[in-house]
Amino acid sequence: MIKHEPDKDVIEKIIFLFNKKKYLEALDLSDKIINKYPNSILINNILGVIHTELKNYTFAKNLFIKVINLNPKYNDGYYNLANIYNKIGEEDNAIKNYERVIELDKGYYKAYNNLGNIFRKRNLNKKALEYYILTLNINPNYIRGFYNLAGVLQHFILDEKNKYINKFFLYLLENRTIVRPNAIATNVINGLFLNTNLKDNFSLIENINFPKNLNKIIEGLNENKLLLQFMKVCPIPNYYFEKNFIKIRNEILNQIYNLNFKKIYLNFLVALSAQCFLNEYVYSETNEEIFKVNKINERIKNNINTKKINELEILILSCYSPLHSFDWSSKIDPSNELKETFILQYEDYNEEKEYTKKIKSISEINDSISIKVKNQYEENPYPRWTNLGLSIEPRHIKEVIEDINLNVDIKKINFSKNVEILIAGCGTGQHAITTASKYKNAEIFALDLSFNSLAYAKRKAKELKCENINFFQGDLLSLKKVNKKFDIIESVGVLHHMADPLIGWATLTNCLKKDGLMLIGLYSEKARGNIANVRKTINNLKIKTTKKNIINFRKDIFEKNNPQWETIKHSPDFYSTSGVRDLLFHIQEHRFTIDIIRKKMKKLGLVFLGFEDTYVLERFKKNYDNNEDLYNLDTWIEFEKKNPRIFSGMYQFWCKKI
Ligand SMILES: C[S@@+](CC[C@H](N)C(=O)[O-])C[C@H]1O[C@@H](n2cnc3c(N)ncnc32)[C@H](O)[C@@H]1O
Repeated sequence: MIKHEPDKDVIEKIIFLFNKKKYLEALDLSDKIINKYPNSILINNILGVIHTELKNYTFAKNLFIKVINLNPKYNDGYYNLANIYNKIGEEDNAIKNYERVIELDKGYYKAYNNLGNIFRKRNLNKKALEYYILTLNINPNYIRGFYNLAGVLQHFILDEKNKYINKFFLYLLENRTIVRPNAIATNVINGLFLNTNLKDNFSLIENINFPKNLNKIIEGLNENKLLLQFMKVCPIPNYYFEKNFIKIRNEILNQIYNLNFKKIYLNFLVALSAQCFLNEYVYSETNEEIFKVNKINERIKNNINTKKINELEILILSCYSPLHSFDWSSKIDPSNELKETFILQYEDYNEEKEYTKKIKSISEINDSISIKVKNQYEENPYPRWTNLGLSIEPRHIKEVIEDINLNVDIKKINFSKNVEILIAGCGTGQHAITTASKYKNAEIFALDLSFNSLAYAKRKAKELKCENINFFQGDLLSLKKVNKKFDIIESVGVLHHMADPLIGWATLTNCLKKDGLMLIGLYSEKARGNIANVRKTINNLKIKTTKKNIINFRKDIFEKNNPQWETIKHSPDFYSTSGVRDLLFHIQEHRFTIDIIRKKMKKLGLVFLGFEDTYVLERFKKNYDNNEDLYNLDTWIEFEKKNPRIFSGMYQFWCKKI
């Protein structure tokens, strides 16, 4: 009998070389074997996969077609062929072949996932979502599927019941590195209203039986795992939630010594306390509440040495002030029920305090605006975040840049072997850690004015095992002293808070290597028109920046239905103290237009390479399909005129020295 397939150990050797990314060696061996077994399905298929890696797509395509002809039921062959069609832009052919795979094997989850990607590219987001859900229902451990799901959830509004989606939301909110909870918060809220009985629960608060029905309400909320997790990962950007949480908090405080079913209250209070901590206690409080809180505080103070700890008392207090702010907190020996809150509100805080002592400074701060900005972020480090969307794996700098599709010939750029990256104004680390996860062999120099922000960043970097960031304190105006040049400089949301952004930008430009790339994020005058108006009102009314004033001002905005202020309520920043301060009470804010940015770049000898934000780019491409338009600032000016709020997430763009 003629043997069609080579021995198993030969196949294994090729696969071993392939997995080690030794593609040329794998190719060499396969080529030798194929001569002996020209009709081997396995070898032809492997050869196709190797050629795919080597970007020889036509070659690979023909090999997969051969494989399918040899065995029309070989689903890997169809799958690989579909991938090639996808890569060369023949999406209809790709769809046909993925569908064939699914006909042959209903459990082939990667085929559903890749179909989801094609629908996503075609802006058929609802269909893409369906396919990602199919993927994850087959393989709930497929991390890429979760990344894709999180991606699509940021581009459309969930408006129908879906019996699967909440379990995936829960997974996404429990995972530390797939997605920023804020990015999917609107859809999580929709998922809670559409697929759970949250609305009925909240309506019990407006019922005449309130507060007698408190047990029933807490019982209902406690069963809602997604809600509790959501409360623990980001300030929930919705006033309806806020109003109800304020009422519940007040009522639990009222009944704190008469609560039956202690366990459900403990569990719920851990989540409510986390929510209040994350929003930095932005909820309004009555004098009566303050009085009661003070009384409980006194009671605990008197009892703490007797070790008679009432967890409910401690938890309700931690819904009004962080545990570390009470002088007795160091004496707590936390029980299991208190552990989570104790770590969040006491241990993390102390860890950060230790870090502030160890962070090195690059210079003294002399600029008067920098001093004021520093003070603001020392008092309110911003943004406070829990989870992030990190890259699945770090990649070579050229691959990363190629994906952003910048107007630059990446082959001609000589990046250093160890890519040196400066994050100027890294704040609480979200940006620096995300960047660190993208690039292979990268060393990150992360600078900020605020020790407290840096300490938060350092703690989070440690928690996420991100080891290639060095944090420094100082003014970016002093970067000259560091005497270092960088391959990449990123500064997002920083320059517009300086006395003269152009001087700051020039300082950064001087730190860029000859071929280096720079990512800048600046406020848009058009997108922030509404915010500028509120800021004007705050200035005219001479409202001082105190926590109390911030809380009262928010209350006014919610209660007086001024249509001019409506959009502010949709900003996630409006739901935390540091967020409101950054959004409306910042001591220094400049806003830009595209034309002004163009002029500044000209002055600095920089060229525009393209915008970064995928949402903005997708919207732009729907209107302008010529690739060159992407790099034409006149077209962008026209686009922004038609879509004045499009840059509400800032102008984020890349540039380089001419
Ligand atoms: C709005 S936060 C943005 C933080 C971070 N880039 C992000 O996207 O999460 C602005 C940060 O810029 C920092 N900053 C402002 N002016 C600076 C300066 N002159 N030098 C260094 N950092 C500065 C502030 O301390 C603050 O942490």
